[in-house]
Parts: sequence; structure tokens; C-alpha cells
Amino acid sequence: MATNRTFTMLKPDAIEKGHVGAILEKINASGFRIVAMKLTQMTRTDAEAFYAIHKERPFFGELVKYMTRGPIVAAILEKDNAVEDFRTLIGATNPADAAEGTIRKLYAASIGENAVHGSDSDENAAIEGRFHFSGREQF
Ligand code: RTP
Ligand code: MG
Repeated sequence: MATNRTFTMLKPDAIEKGHVGAILEKINASGFRIVAMKLTQMTRTDAEAFYAIHKERPFFGELVKYMTRGPIVAAILEKDNAVEDFRTLIGATNPADAAEGTIRKLYAASIGENAVHGSDSDENAAIEGRFHFSGREQF
């Protein structure tokens, strides 16, 4: 059954370029409610665990380096059909393929540095939300 929550990270490139405000504005304007949010920085161990599914991929080392090089904004978002609608809002992994008006089309530089993360399933949204907000019973 689809839940109404997803998990996102505004990645280090988005923070470095000063795009946090614009991206949050777009998220809110698209009907998502922010349930939890924090500025944090992932350690190498965090990033390796979070993206463990990609550990055999050739870009894994670059991905871990990128995701740990500066702060991120982690957030749990709520909306009907949250996972699917948020993936639509962020656009394709490669900004060159992303639809006009999507967050990645507007703010991402490349397939590797693509500004924002969105959970790909309800199950992963719950796992990823717990990963960043563990011990917070209210979330
Ligand atoms: P995300 O998990 O961050 O929301 O991104 P996604 O589902 O659209 O893409 P995924 O396949 O899960 O890849 C995770 C992240 O790894 C980096 N990546 N680099 N250089 C490359 O070919 C490459 N491919 C993927 C991106 O940061 C991507 O978001
Ligand atoms: Mg993914």
C-alpha cells in the first residue's frame, strides 16, 4: 500500500550554490509538507551505508566523496502519493534528461552532482527517514 511519506536530501552541490531556499520553496509549492528537516553532514561510513545498493557500481567512490564533502539538508516529506510525486518533481537522475521545470533540470549540474535525492519506494522512504532521524519516535 502506498504511504504518504518520502525522504529527501538536498545534496552538497545544492547547498554550496545557495539553492536551498529555492528548492524548499518548490517542494512546498508542489504540495509537500515538511515533517522533519535538518542540516547535517554525512560521514564516509554514513554515505557508504546509505548508498550500499550502489557499492559495486563504478561511480560509488565518487558518489561517497561527493555526498560527504559538505553539509546536506535531510528531510521527511508528506503528501498523497509522496514517493512517486516527488520523483516526478525532481526529474531524471541525469539533468540532461530531466523534464523542464524539474528540480534537477533547474539546479543540477551533471548525473553525478544532481542536487537532490528522492526515495524510490515506500519501503526505502521509511528506511532512509529512520537512517537520518533515528531515535525520534515522533517521525
Ligand atoms: P538518488 O538515489 O540520489 O535519488 O538518485 P537516483 O535514484 O535518481 O539515481 P541512482 O541510480 O539511485 O544513483 C544514486 C546517485 O548516484 C550518483 N550517480 N552517478 N556518474 C554516474 O554515472 C552516476 N550515476 C548515478 C548520482 O548522484 C545519483 O543521484
Ligand atoms: Mg536512487
